[in-house]
Amino acid sequence: MTKALHGVRVLDFTHVQSGPTCTQLLAWFGADVIKIERPGVGDITRSQLRDIPGEDSLYFTMLNHNKRSLTLDTKTKQGKEILEGLVRVCDVMVENFAPGVLDRMGLTWERIQELNPRIILASIKGFGPGPYEDCKVYENIAQCAGGAASTTGFDDGPPLVTGAQIGDSGSGLHLALGIVTALYQRTHTGRGQMVRASMQDGVLNLCRVKLRDQQRLARGPLKEYPQYPHGEFGSSVPRAGNASGGGQPGWILKCKGWETDPNAYLYFVAQAPVWESICKVIEKPEWITDSNYATPEARLPHLKDIFAGIEEWTMQHTKIEAMEILNKYDIPCGPILSMEEIAADQSLRDTGTIVEVDHPGRGQYLSVGNPIKLSDSPTEVVRSPLLGEHNEEILKDVLGFDEATIVNMFASGALGAVPLRAAE
Ligand SMILES: CC(C)(COP(=O)(O)OP(=O)(O)OC[C@H]1O[C@@H](n2cnc3c(N)ncnc32)[C@H](O)[C@@H]1OP(=O)(O)O)[C@@H](O)C(=O)NCCC(=O)NCCS
Repeated sequence: MTKALHGVRVLDFTHVQSGPTCTQLLAWFGADVIKIERPGVGDITRSQLRDIPGEDSLYFTMLNHNKRSLTLDTKTKQGKEILEGLVRVCDVMVENFAPGVLDRMGLTWERIQELNPRIILASIKGFGPGPYEDCKVYENIAQCAGGAASTTGFDDGPPLVTGAQIGDSGSGLHLALGIVTALYQRTHTGRGQMVRASMQDGVLNLCRVKLRDQQRLARGPLKEYPQYPHGEFGSSVPRAGNASGGGQPGWILKCKGWETDPNAYLYFVAQAPVWESICKVIEKPEWITDSNYATPEARLPHLKDIFAGIEEWTMQHTKIEAMEILNKYDIPCGPILSMEEIAADQSLRDTGTIVEVDHPGRGQYLSVGNPIKLSDSPTEVVRSPLLGEHNEEILKDVLGFDEATIVNMFASGALGAVPLRAAE
């Protein structure tokens, strides 16, 4: 079956997490992704957080599936020649170097356009134009600068970063959308363009509801926040603990076994349309007509008591039992699942969201597969490439170099100190 991005060739000049998540998505959709890495070293994540001595780390393998690897010292004459050759034949170039790095390599946007006016140059930077545009940025910096940390956590605690990689993987997603959009526009214009996604912008986009609340705050207290009605509201959106970010109140509640199991909890949404069912299930039928509880507006000052009442019920059940009972009444809720539980979840494996991948060096490992499912372009997850695994193949098939040129390129050291046909 032809894949959605079949025929799209991507020069993947990304490293660490944000850029690689973007190009991995493009590869899963069928693009030919050629990852350029520094000879001998590769993407720094190959050796970071290693769990097996000498083998590519899970950090690397889980972010670089379905790609080909080419080692290239782009600061040598021949390395630059190969790089420019790839710019000529690729549809998209993706990079997430620190600001200025690409220019210092001689690859300014002007030069790139000279080489290939149809190419799309997609970049992730920490910040957009402004006072911080030259700064290097990692995940948690973006979470802090994009409004996530100041609005995450409990009101009486410090700002918190979240385990979800909204700065890195979030920016990768934003950039991927920009790339396919630019590819579509190119079908009309014939021209490439620059696509930029800043990590701060991406995090802020995901924190949209908090900027909403910042403006609501000017008109009075945020009545769905746990600070209401007894706490103080300052001038900026406070941390809301586990309150829901939407119009239906929610909270995390203890379930049976919480004393010993750190994940024996359930997220419970006290959704207005099923309020009557909630009262019946938790055996508080009097709340259906009590004027303090009967309407969503009346309930807002009593949310703490309401969730305490519901928790008395959830603590009598395991999170899975509680979910089964509540689902019969269409009451929205969800168990707090540990990574251990998720890794063992058969339904996630059945859909390819969790996949087992074979790797020649490390054996079998688990990864997150493509979370986006296309009915006409199913994803097959292929292991990440070894460093420089496709050197010769790319020079030959992608750049069309003849045998003598390939021999010269290898001899020049531009691909590192690797002999031609090392694997033979
Ligand atoms: C992530 C980040 C902080 C890492 O910083 P870093 O490890 O210092 O890496 P840099 O991007 O500065 O690049 C380092 C150097 O490697 C060089 N390099 C990279 N690949 C090369 C290659 N194949 N051949 C030769 N040189 C290469 C670059 O030219 C650069 O050299 P220079 O500074 O002398 O010009 C930085 O790249 C960054 O801020 N990126 C944008 C935001 C981002 O994506 N952050 C999230 C990462 S998950």
